[in-house]
Amino acid sequence: MLLVIEAMNKALRRVPAWPLYPLGALPVLWLFWQGVQGGLGVDPAKAIEHRLGLWGLWLLIAGLAVTPLGRFAGLRLIKFRRAIGLLAFFYILTHLLVWLVLDVQIPAQIWADIVKRPYITIGMAAFVMMVPLALTSNNWSLRKLGPVRWRRLHRLTYILVPLGAVHFVMVVKGWQMEPFYYLGIVLVLLVLRLVPTAIPARRRALKS
Ligand code: HEM
Repeated sequence: MLLVIEAMNKALRRVPAWPLYPLGALPVLWLFWQGVQGGLGVDPAKAIEHRLGLWGLWLLIAGLAVTPLGRFAGLRLIKFRRAIGLLAFFYILTHLLVWLVLDVQIPAQIWADIVKRPYITIGMAAFVMMVPLALTSNNWSLRKLGPVRWRRLHRLTYILVPLGAVHFVMVVKGWQMEPFYYLGIVLVLLVLRLVPTAIPARRRALKS
């Protein structure tokens, strides 16, 4: 297993992070194209809104998984984390815009929905927390803030990702397990951060 991880790390070292941005944006264009072509059923706006929300959540979970995968499996994905986080922001921002422009449409209704519908309030709170993270996901901000303050700010992830998962739990109608699986994965990934890094230490010892 260690050899496989080492081989993967070696291969990943040669893969640049920048192609993730255009590749990650492609599904959004494809989704809108399908919507225009009539390939998304009777309510394309709702279908787009739902898929963007789901993909945004997947990306948020992927970003949260980078550190535990490094600590417990030795998989080095850290250089891709910024792109994953910024793509998550792009998906959730588009999810929000679709809701505003294609779904609600009436400006007066927007604020009423944010205040009166708890799942919108929670989704909005998660989105608002994503904004400073997206704005500071660049080398200039990292230098300006310094690593300690930057890391402290980016701990907002530990609040916003579970909020995003709770938003999903609240969105679904009836009894469905899917959102609970995501919430469970998010909670496991957060709890793993509290576990001391005994495994990599042993691995380091084995290697030396
Ligand atoms: C981190 C933030 C967010 C995440 C992770 C997220 C994720 C999701 C997910 C996974 C769904 C359900 C998709 C499905 O049914 O397959 C959803 C639905 C939805 N989200 Fe979000 N969302 C976020 C923020 C927001 C925000 C800011 C708004 C609007 C202010 C919003 C409005 C909605 C609406 C209206 C629905 C559909 C509800 C319905 O079925 O009528 N979300 N979201």
